[in-house]
Amino acid sequence: MIKIYAPASIGNVGVGFDILGAAIVPINGMLLGDFVTVQLSEKFNLINKGIFAEKLPKNTEENIVWKCWLKFCKIIKKNIPVSIILEKNMPIGSGLGSSACSVVATLVAMNEFCKKPLNSKELLLLMGEVEGEISGSIHYDNVAPSYLGGLQLILNDSEIISQTIPSFKNWFWIIAWPGVKISTSEAREILPKKYNKEVCVKNSRHLAGFIHASYSKQPYLAARLMQDFIAEPYRIKLLPNFLKTKEKIKKMGAISCGISGSGPTIFSVTDDIQMAKKISSWLTKNYLQNETGFVHICFLDLKGVRKIG
Ligand code: HSE
Repeated sequence: MIKIYAPASIGNVGVGFDILGAAIVPINGMLLGDFVTVQLSEKFNLINKGIFAEKLPKNTEENIVWKCWLKFCKIIKKNIPVSIILEKNMPIGSGLGSSACSVVATLVAMNEFCKKPLNSKELLLLMGEVEGEISGSIHYDNVAPSYLGGLQLILNDSEIISQTIPSFKNWFWIIAWPGVKISTSEAREILPKKYNKEVCVKNSRHLAGFIHASYSKQPYLAARLMQDFIAEPYRIKLLPNFLKTKEKIKKMGAISCGISGSGPTIFSVTDDIQMAKKISSWLTKNYLQNETGFVHICFLDLKGVRKIG
């Protein structure tokens, strides 16, 4: 039996639409992500458990885990009869890489169970492919951090898919999911098909500057450059009160604030734990829309996917 945990992640990280992603872990030690257990069986069988299990499609063949299993068996050219337990702890359509958690945990669990027929590049390519089928187009900024941990720069080069970028160890990332859903494919659909040159240049300048600041250990420069000119201007309308919330959080002293992935989760960054607690309690009172919503103060999760037990 193999049990695998894959952490939640923040796609885009403000400045790197589809290019930057960060795995996160709450500072209180809880694990924020999905668990997948694989064991031998007579035929394929899937059991859904966890906080958000009832939000999953009733039809097994619509479940991401089944899609992953099928693709994995096709690639290794072998039918592997297994019983899989998915512990769905991440809310679907939250902007925290929920589908990536299930994809990464399932594919890593299957690969481990079969004694690693795929190498890490092949696995990551497969994760991106499945993610692309779910969200409308391939993007690695959730699967790569969930798999590899830390802050990932997606290169999608013929040899190297993703690279770990140095991150600031003393940054607290406060994430707030209001308790409602935004479909990633719809949030991608509303973006322009083309951007003008000034926007492209500004975006390149900020992203290159952010990477430079990360390597040269300039946290405040990095935080100032975490601005999104590609997705945020168009997604604001999907997130009620986003601009007011961002303004308030910045006033409270956060060094950065943005949309996590395609939303509606928002993230903010501070290097002061007292401020992180203040922001967290303000968001709990003012950003959550129902009792399923949550706020967590997190560190970056440098480990990524891991075996449990
Ligand atoms: N980069 C993706 C997007 C992340 O913003 O659409 C989705 O979580």
